[in-house]
Amino acid sequence: MARFLVTGAAGFIGSHLVEALRAAGHDVIGVDRRPGADVVGDLLTLDLAPLLDGVEYVVHLAGQPGVRESWSQFPAYLAGNLQTTQRLLESLRDRPLKKFILASTSSVYGEAPMPAREDGPAMPVSPYGLTKLAAEKLCDLYGRTAGIPWVALRYFTVYGPRQRPDMAFSRWFNAALDGEPIQIYGDGSQLRDFTYVADAVTATQRAALNPVVGVPINVGGGSAVTVREAIRLIAAITGRPIRIRQLPPAPGDMRETRADTERLWREVGFRPSTPLEEGLWQQYRWHLAQRA
Ligand code: NAD
Ligand code: UGA
Repeated sequence: MARFLVTGAAGFIGSHLVEALRAAGHDVIGVDRRPGADVVGDLLTLDLAPLLDGVEYVVHLAGQPGVRESWSQFPAYLAGNLQTTQRLLESLRDRPLKKFILASTSSVYGEAPMPAREDGPAMPVSPYGLTKLAAEKLCDLYGRTAGIPWVALRYFTVYGPRQRPDMAFSRWFNAALDGEPIQIYGDGSQLRDFTYVADAVTATQRAALNPVVGVPINVGGGSAVTVREAIRLIAAITGRPIRIRQLPPAPGDMRETRADTERLWREVGFRPSTPLEEGLWQQYRWHLAQRA
């Protein structure tokens, strides 16, 4: 059994990861600036040294997520995605760490050809994607100069119970349950490689404990569908008629995300496999329970 520090532990992916690690018998300290973690504080100011004593694995999920807001709130993305990462890496110097795992994103790919490969181009089309790509480069820098063993997991649009309220499926389930129209950016032909949260968590645990180090790894590949196809499934699951309100395409949104998962399979021995319909049912039941 190992000792983990999980940042962003009160967040969507973080809360699932902490539960799964504890269920597997690991010793976990969760940190977040929001209530719901063992240690509540801001990574930009917290005294990190006492938190890192005896820690073997750091999973750095804390950050500023969301693609579309990153144009107008760039300082928050710099602080959340770059400064927190730099501060953690600097505090990890000369410690006997087994691995630092960075939460990266499919958004680093931008205009790269799909299915996206980790050894292919990364051409972000949003400031969000750019700050995460820079955070990956920081890991590489500290890996080469300070010997810190790292891996960056490029998660592809994660969904499931407790999904962030700003993300598409949360907004659409809530709109359907409230009888409001669903808003789509553009014509809904954009494609996403939606990844169920339990699959993202399994990949994260295994990437920590397997020997792989010093590379980014795609975590996606479960269900690549268009926004319109996903909305059809949501209509069938909720059993409600859905009205669609089309908005202009959102600046920074990728046309398509599709993960090449060869590296994930080879290095981590796992591939996301939860069918979209099954994962959407789980998320729908969670929204219903929230309203009960
Ligand atoms: P989330 O917002 O639910 O969780 C992130 C958590 O980090 C929040 O609870 C927030 O309070 C915390 N946090 C942010 N800045 C902090 C700071 N300075 N100090 C302490 N805590 C801080 O987001 P999520 O969807 O769970 O995403 C987790 C990570 O994975 C993020 O880094 C995100 O960019 C990345 N990611 C998410 C997805 C996705 O589809 N959800 C996809 C790719 C990458
Ligand atoms: C998501 C997360 O928000 C990012 O934090 C993460 O890094 C990113 O995945 C990633 O994989 O890199 P996004 O794909 O935009 O970003 O996720 P959603 O908010 O679930 O949007 C999915 C699709 O639905 C996008 O094409 C978006 O344009 C569309 N959408 C979203 C709408 O049409 N309407 C909405 O109300 C919301």
